[in-house]
Amino acid sequence: MPKPGASEAPAKNASAPPGAAALEIRDTRTNESYSLPVVDGSIRATDLKKIPSGDADGGGLMSYDPAFLNTAACRSAITYIDGDKGILRYRGYPIEQLAERANFLEVAWLLRHGELPDQKEYDKFEHDITYHTYVHENIRKFLEGFRYDAHPMAMLNSAVAALASFYPDSRNIFDAEQRNISIIRLLAKVPTIAAFSYRHVKGLPFVYPDNDLSYVENFLSMVARMSEPKYEANPVFVKALEILFILHADHEQNCSTSAVRAVGSSHVDPFSAISAGIAALFGPLHGGANEAVLRMIGEIGHPKNVPAFIEEVKGGKGQRLMGFGHRVYKSYDPRARIVKQLADDVFKIVGVDKDLEIALELERIALSDDYFVSRKLYPNVDFYTGLIYRSMAFPTEFFTVLFAIARTSGWLSQWEEMLLDKEQKIARPRQIYVGPGEREYKSKLSAARSGGKAAKKDALRQ
Ligand code: CMC
Repeated sequence: MPKPGASEAPAKNASAPPGAAALEIRDTRTNESYSLPVVDGSIRATDLKKIPSGDADGGGLMSYDPAFLNTAACRSAITYIDGDKGILRYRGYPIEQLAERANFLEVAWLLRHGELPDQKEYDKFEHDITYHTYVHENIRKFLEGFRYDAHPMAMLNSAVAALASFYPDSRNIFDAEQRNISIIRLLAKVPTIAAFSYRHVKGLPFVYPDNDLSYVENFLSMVARMSEPKYEANPVFVKALEILFILHADHEQNCSTSAVRAVGSSHVDPFSAISAGIAALFGPLHGGANEAVLRMIGEIGHPKNVPAFIEEVKGGKGQRLMGFGHRVYKSYDPRARIVKQLADDVFKIVGVDKDLEIALELERIALSDDYFVSRKLYPNVDFYTGLIYRSMAFPTEFFTVLFAIARTSGWLSQWEEMLLDKEQKIARPRQIYVGPGEREYKSKLSAARSGGKAAKKDALRQ
């Protein structure tokens, strides 16, 4: 190998065909040059393996990317985001057009199939979903076993995982029919389980699905119906929920979707994979943020306390400004814009309250404060959704459940895309080991515990 400082060696071609776009890099440790093919604005991390790491283990170079800040783990044709320009499209359709003109089931079909459904396809899809809204009675009993104060996300997560035990054939994930029926079942039953969780926490009897109603109306009926023979939802609330479901349906490789893909890559059944997504969504840095926004607003208490709260956030002593910032959007989240408009519509009906005033004041101050401006921290989708959900009388703990109902459509589309992608294998990241080197085992336990059963007995006899 040439010594450092020697004249440059010819580039080693990692696998770039002659004339193809490539990244020419020189390894200053060895003065070797390498040519790494650039395709779709990316180099393949596996191409780096051609470059020796220089470590004792003699392996190839790795890329180190904790939290996947700059690593594409798949090719996907589902959702496009331009975080700098604030663009979000599902299968090429701008989110603004879908939110204004489509309904949620149409979007769910679009996400999975890549095209909008025609009337015949839509009617069958809606019929199939409506037909599968009921859950096995044992699922109802299972939910009844939870404590009265169980978090509905924990209930949803467990019950969706439990569905795997009711549909063992769903493990045949490479059978297109099995995949289809599992997808229909999940889209149909997640709202039912979600509503049952709500009724359980409220101590109310479960309301079974009303298959005369639309997807969103049926869900609202299962949540809110009391003694009336037929539930009639407020049309503004139905429209608002339809739009919020569309906005939350997919968001490319976010934490929960990556969880679904990673767990699904082991070829487990879809119920287990989706429950992994629900678990990831439960976290306050992800879907739990809308719940956290309302708690934060509650703690602030009054618009006059907003400046002091913002100072605390900036000082890093208090919490973060929940509902602000996004890994991908470095401008206004396009969904937040739609949600803000929606909030106006809903608040026209229910009236403006103190919490909305606090939210508006938080947004006003943060958008003009250098701390937030310089870090490109703008309101994200969760900033106003919680306020809308609460004005529709949903309890705070239920907000993330609403997110999960919508995101199930995106998770399933991404799961199926991953399964059918020939490039995908079981997800298995590498690591940089930073622990101790080899050392000899020398127990630090007492003789009674380390000496096996005989020594334990002796110790007990004493
Ligand atoms: N309030 C105050 N400072 C913030 C915030 C915030 N909400 N978000 C980021 N920062 C600061 C952070 O302290 C850091 O500052 P510095 O460079 O001085 O250390 C800088 O901005 C970059 O932050 P980061 O943690 O490296 O950014 P990230 O891309 O890893 O985090 C995020 C993205 C969404 C987790 C984060 O912005 C956050 O915690 N936001 C609040 C929680 C929230 O609203 N989550 C919902 C996300 S959207 C819906 C969803 O994904 O479910």
